[in-house]
Amino acid sequence: MSLEQLSGKTVLVTGAGGLIGSRITSQLRRLGARPISVCKLDAYPHEVYRERFDIDASAPDFIIGDIAEPELMRKVISGCDYVIHAAALADVAACTRRPLDAIDTNITGTQRVLDAVAASDRVRRMVFVSSASVYGNGSPQFVENAAVQPVSVYGNSKVWGEYQTAAVLGGAGISYAVVRYF
Ligand SMILES: NC(=O)c1ccc[n+]([C@@H]2O[C@H](COP(=O)([O-])OP(=O)(O)OC[C@H]3O[C@@H](n4cnc5c(N)ncnc54)[C@H](O)[C@@H]3O)[C@@H](O)[C@H]2O)c1
Repeated sequence: MSLEQLSGKTVLVTGAGGLIGSRITSQLRRLGARPISVCKLDAYPHEVYRERFDIDASAPDFIIGDIAEPELMRKVISGCDYVIHAAALADVAACTRRPLDAIDTNITGTQRVLDAVAASDRVRRMVFVSSASVYGNGSPQFVENAAVQPVSVYGNSKVWGEYQTAAVLGGAGISYAVVRYF
């Protein structure tokens, strides 16, 4: 599909307040889509969200919430045509220090998103935002078709997210894509 076809479509962006999610939502707006943002807004001080990422958390299409809440995910996703799942505990060192927090969002949260997408009769496609960390430390260099070999809690959780997206949405017959940000 072409990006122009997103015009008029409702697109959930999880982690929409963050570095990548905030860029995705502004690009979606430029394309004429209707992005719905769900984000905990807990990765940076509030002025960073406001001043650096241009986030208006009081906007009606911005929901401050946790993707691990099943009711929230079901309610929001039932009204969406597409889902871009970018929320994560994305700090590699924090995932290593606090593996249970990484599991809460990157594993449980991702499962909640997948469950809600699989249960929806409206979502046409989901994008799972993964990472070059699935390749481990990239020695001697990162190559896109290299074998997956994570060496961190964060990398493990991203590999799980990739395979789980394929297992749940493939099984439900819902289109999906995995993108590995480098
Ligand atoms: N920035 C990079 O260089 C990079 C590289 C590879 C992959 N990624 C991936 O891209 C995605 C976005 O990364 P980023 O750099 O924008 O991170 P970020 O920390 O800037 O943004 C992530 C946002 O997700 C939110 N979040 C965390 N847990 C949540 C939860 N349970 N419910 C709702 N929101 C929650 C945080 O509050 C934060 O605002 C992540 O999936 C990350 O793993 C990023």
